[in-house]
Amino acid sequence: MWIYPKFLAHRGGGKLAPENTIAGLQCGLAHGFHAVEFDVMLARDGVPVVMHDPYLGRTVAGAGNVFDYDAAELAAMDAGSWFGPQFGDATVPLFAQYVEFCKANGIWMNIEIKPAPGFDVETGRVVGELTRAMFGLEIARGDPAALPLMSSFSPVALAAARAAAPDVPRALLLDALPADWEAQARALGAVAIHTNQKHLTAALARQVKDAGFGLFCYTVNDPARARAIIGWGVDGMCTDRIDLIGPDGPDGPGN
Ligand code: G3P
Ligand code: MG
Repeated sequence: MWIYPKFLAHRGGGKLAPENTIAGLQCGLAHGFHAVEFDVMLARDGVPVVMHDPYLGRTVAGAGNVFDYDAAELAAMDAGSWFGPQFGDATVPLFAQYVEFCKANGIWMNIEIKPAPGFDVETGRVVGELTRAMFGLEIARGDPAALPLMSSFSPVALAAARAAAPDVPRALLLDALPADWEAQARALGAVAIHTNQKHLTAALARQVKDAGFGLFCYTVNDPARARAIIGWGVDGMCTDRIDLIGPDGPDGPGN
């Protein structure tokens, strides 16, 4: 079962703003999105930051790995100029700062735990602990739709997140579904499967739904494809094209 929003802005504002920045969230909001997917990894000092790549150079000016810098150093770095000069003051958000912005603006969160190679356990544990702390009231209230969903391609990170935050739900990210997808998901106590829309078929979607899992796809940028997979029972998706697939889907108002 899927109790979350159906259409999420990928990395904050999709392809319309620098990814994984507060400016991206503001862009998503301007397009009506109150649901987001974003990526989290650890800085050198173990503080989680919102980043997709484990290295600098593509979205953040500079060189080296994310884990070569403390979070305070990353938080001062330019994460917007690569996208356009108007975003020159965008920096790398701390995970806690990003979550605070989302909560303050009523944005539901799919937190993708994205460990740098070799940091799976630590990243899952830290993100789980901080998420649990930041959603303590929602957990106590017993309001599952108000909780974020933690996802990862790393089963090791998800297991560590589960141990740290057993009350925060998890989703297993899989590019193409392997034969043992269900066993993997059950071993992690996952509520949903997040998978690449490119490899999904109607038959696989039916298997996932019949097994009782939520089914979410990344990254859907073609409205016709969005319609097709919704017809297969897909519960939710994230998009880079928040201008084509709006918060109410490909056929919602404004599209
Ligand atoms: O969480 C879904 C999607 O974001 C996974 O791929 O590389 O865009 O983080 P990536
Ligand atoms: Mg992601």
